Amino acid sequence: LHLDHATLEQLREWEQSLSEQYTAFQQAGLNLDLTRGKPGPDQLDLSNALDGILQNNYKSSAGVDVRNYGGIDGLAEAKALFASMINTKAEDVMVGGNSSLALMFFAVQSALYQGVNGSDTAWSKESNNIKFLAPVPGYDRHFSVCEQLGIQLIPVSMTDSGPDMDQVEERVKADPLIKGIWCVPRFSNPTGIVYSDDVVARMAKLPTLAGENFRIFWDNAYSVHVLEDNAPELASIMDDCRNEGTEDGVYIFGSTSKVTFAGAGVAFMASSPANIASLTKQMSFSTIGPDKINQLRHAIFLKDRESLKNHMAQHAAIIKPRFDTVLDLLNKELLDCGMATWVKPKGGYFISVDTLPGLAREVVKLCAAAGVKLTPAGATFPYGNDPDDSNIRLAPTFPNIEEIREAMAVFVNCVKLASVRQKQSTQ
Ligand SMILES: Cc1ncc(COP(=O)(O)O)c(C=O)c1O
Repeated sequence: LHLDHATLEQLREWEQSLSEQYTAFQQAGLNLDLTRGKPGPDQLDLSNALDGILQNNYKSSAGVDVRNYGGIDGLAEAKALFASMINTKAEDVMVGGNSSLALMFFAVQSALYQGVNGSDTAWSKESNNIKFLAPVPGYDRHFSVCEQLGIQLIPVSMTDSGPDMDQVEERVKADPLIKGIWCVPRFSNPTGIVYSDDVVARMAKLPTLAGENFRIFWDNAYSVHVLEDNAPELASIMDDCRNEGTEDGVYIFGSTSKVTFAGAGVAFMASSPANIASLTKQMSFSTIGPDKINQLRHAIFLKDRESLKNHMAQHAAIIKPRFDTVLDLLNKELLDCGMATWVKPKGGYFISVDTLPGLAREVVKLCAAAGVKLTPAGATFPYGNDPDDSNIRLAPTFPNIEEIREAMAVFVNCVKLASVRQKQSTQ
C-alpha cells in the first residue's frame, strides 16, 4: 500500500498493526548497532599476515633502517603503493601516521595558522571568518574539524554525480573567504555516489575561480573499496589539475584504515611537490618521523595495485552480503510505499536512507527505544542540522547478517510507523 493512497481507516489499521509489532520489538530486549562504520573482525583477520611479515629485516628498499628516526615524508615503497592507489605520482605523496583524519586536521590547521605557502598566506591573517563548502549529506568528522577550528561551514547540495557544481562555482566566485571544500569523491560517505568525470574536471578548475590559497580537500577514503564489479572509476583529479595548472589547489587524502587495520593502518596525503615540501616542513615541528616499520609492512603486504585489488575483493566477499541484507529488506518493505528513498552503493561503507521530511529524528528515537542504535539524525550535516530532518546513515559492515536482519526489521517498522503517524496527523 502506498502511503498517499491509504484511506483514514486503512491508516488507522496500519498504525495499529505497526504499533503492535513495535511493542513486540521493545519487549524483545534487543541490543543492536548500525552506527559503526568500522570493519568487522573477519575483515581485520584478512590482514593478520602483517604481523611478523618483516622477519627481522628492517631495511627499506633504499637501505633505510625503518626502526630509527627520520623519513618525515615516508618510505619510497609506501609512496609508490599509495600513488598507484589514487592515480598520482609517487613524488606527489607523503606518508604519515595511522589516521588520514589526523592529516586532514593538520592540513586545515596549518593552512589556517602557518599558511599553505609561507606565513603570509595563512588564512587567519586574511580574516577570522574563514569558510568551507560542505556538500551534504557528508562525513560528520570533516565538519567537526572545521567546527573545532572556528571555520564556518556552508552546505551545498549533492547530486547523484557529485556536488552541485553550479552552486559550488557560484559560491566560491562570490566569496573569496571560502578557502576549502570537503569531498569524498568515490563511494561518498554517506551516499555512496562516485563523482563523474565532468564534476572532477570542474573541481580542478575551482582554484582559478576561488579566492587566494583555496584548497580542495579530496578525501579519497574509499578509493579501492569496491562492492560491485561495474562500479564507476574516478577520474584522477591530479591529472585534471595539472592540465589546468591548479595542482597546488588540491590536497588528496587516504589511508589503509579499511584496507588492513582501522587502528593500525597507514595514512597518506598527496598534492603538488611544492605543497608536499611545505607540508612536510610544517609536520617536522610536531614529529621527527612517522612509523616506518608499519609503512614497510604495508608495502610488502599489499605490494602493488593488482594485489591490493585482490585484497579488496576479499573484503567485498565478506561485506557485500551485509549490504545486500540491508538493501533486500529496504526493497522488500519500503519500495513503492512513499516512505523512504535510498541509493544502492557500488562501494564504500554506508547506505544512506532519506525518510519523509521531518521524520529522521523520530525514526532514530523509535529505533533506540526498541534497542537499535542508529547514527544520530543530522550527523551528516554541518552543526548536526539536517534542514529536512530526513537523512539517516546505515553502516552494515560491523554487525553479522543475523544482527543486520533483526536491526533492519526494527528500522523498517519504525520508518513505517513514523510515516503513518505523520500522515494521520495531517489528515
Ligand atoms: C570519508 C572518511 N574519511 C576519513 C575517515 C577516517 O579515516 P582514518 O581512519 O584514516 O583517519 C573515514 C572513516 O569513517 C571516512 O568515512
